[in-house]
Amino acid sequence: MYHPCTILKYIVFHFGRRTVSFAPGAHICGSWSPSAVRVTMRVAIVGAGWAGGRHADMFASMKGVEIAAVVARSTTRAKTVAAKVHSEATTDLGSVLRDDSIDAVDVCVPSGVHREIAVPALEAGKHVFMETPMALTAEDADAMVVAGRDNRRILGVAQLMKFVGPYVMIRKAFRDGDLGEPRMAHAARLSVAYWSERKPRDFSVYGDPMIELMIFEYEYLQWLFGSPRAVEARGVRGPTGAVLHALATLEYEDHLAFVEGSAMMPRSWPFTTYLRIQGTASSLETRDRFLGGENPTTEFLRYRAEGTMEPVEFQGQDPYFAECEHFVHCVSGKEDVEPIDGESAAKALAVALAARESVDRRKPVRIP
Ligand SMILES: NC(=O)c1ccc[n+]([C@@H]2O[C@H](COP(=O)([O-])OP(=O)(O)OC[C@H]3O[C@@H](n4cnc5c(N)ncnc54)[C@H](OP(=O)(O)O)[C@@H]3O)[C@@H](O)[C@H]2O)c1
Repeated sequence: MYHPCTILKYIVFHFGRRTVSFAPGAHICGSWSPSAVRVTMRVAIVGAGWAGGRHADMFASMKGVEIAAVVARSTTRAKTVAAKVHSEATTDLGSVLRDDSIDAVDVCVPSGVHREIAVPALEAGKHVFMETPMALTAEDADAMVVAGRDNRRILGVAQLMKFVGPYVMIRKAFRDGDLGEPRMAHAARLSVAYWSERKPRDFSVYGDPMIELMIFEYEYLQWLFGSPRAVEARGVRGPTGAVLHALATLEYEDHLAFVEGSAMMPRSWPFTTYLRIQGTASSLETRDRFLGGENPTTEFLRYRAEGTMEPVEFQGQDPYFAECEHFVHCVSGKEDVEPIDGESAAKALAVALAARESVDRRKPVRIP
């Protein structure tokens, strides 16, 4: 899945997974033998919920990556995740940060708690990867960006949609000029409620659905178009006052984007993501619907300005694996941090916060 729901999981096809490169100064795991696996990166996972478990699976499946520890408030939950990836469980983050053999910390706690883990980790010399949304306030996001810069460490944010096959192809087509000039974009993420009375979600630490869901679309649109000038949004609130369904219009220099996010679709609704980029030369449209099982049904179409419509072939990949692998490659100096860059995630968060403010004030809000 593309969002924080424990029921729906997003796994597409695994084609051509690349293996982790060997960096100088790598740690060697155990005694040497021709078959010993050379460990190039040791990562600690902080948070043992949905995201912690998922990232642990991803890192554990990469050659050369070792999960040094799983840290959580509850030993039981930490042990559950640690056991499946043959790692240590601990509640002591300090000991992890003092351990020089650990290269990176993967922050998988609720977004409102990211800063208190990430800043000390960066100051301790660790590279940091974290789930999106990176924070719930601009101050927290900025503090982490500054800590990354000051300590010369990578601050990576798991910007999932930048690793979904058709979305990657749409950006390439856009940058190659195949779409012409952008005229209009539409992006959506439509879900049933991903909490229940038995399993509530505290929006004060996770962000309400308008932030936690729509951030994925803002991150992707930021990647395509940069920051909008202004945003105007309206939303429907649930019983607690949280915005459960919202419509946001993003205004750019010479085009618009329309973003819809919902966590109040009917129970029978399949989790759906949608993207359409309309350009002067052609338009691309993709829709993923999770109709059952773990793989989505994907529609990917091109509409040419002169009138033909055709399906587009694409190569699927597991975007969760791809984003974690990208972080590993950044740490080993093999890839540019750009798609997961914390600074771009902070800019996307500024759009999400402005959209939230626009709902509250019922007015357009300029993006700082
Ligand atoms: N990309 C995606 O598709 C996706 C999907 C889901 C979530 N996310 C993001 O991933 C992050 C974690 O979300 P999640 O769904 O994995 O959460 P979760 O299942 O509720 O797990 C949260 C973990 O963080 C720990 N934690 C530490 N401080 C906490 C606090 N103040 N309140 C609550 N838990 C705290 C919990 O500890 P205990 O074990 O002691 O309770 C638990 O281990 C968030 O940033 C979320 O937005 C992204």
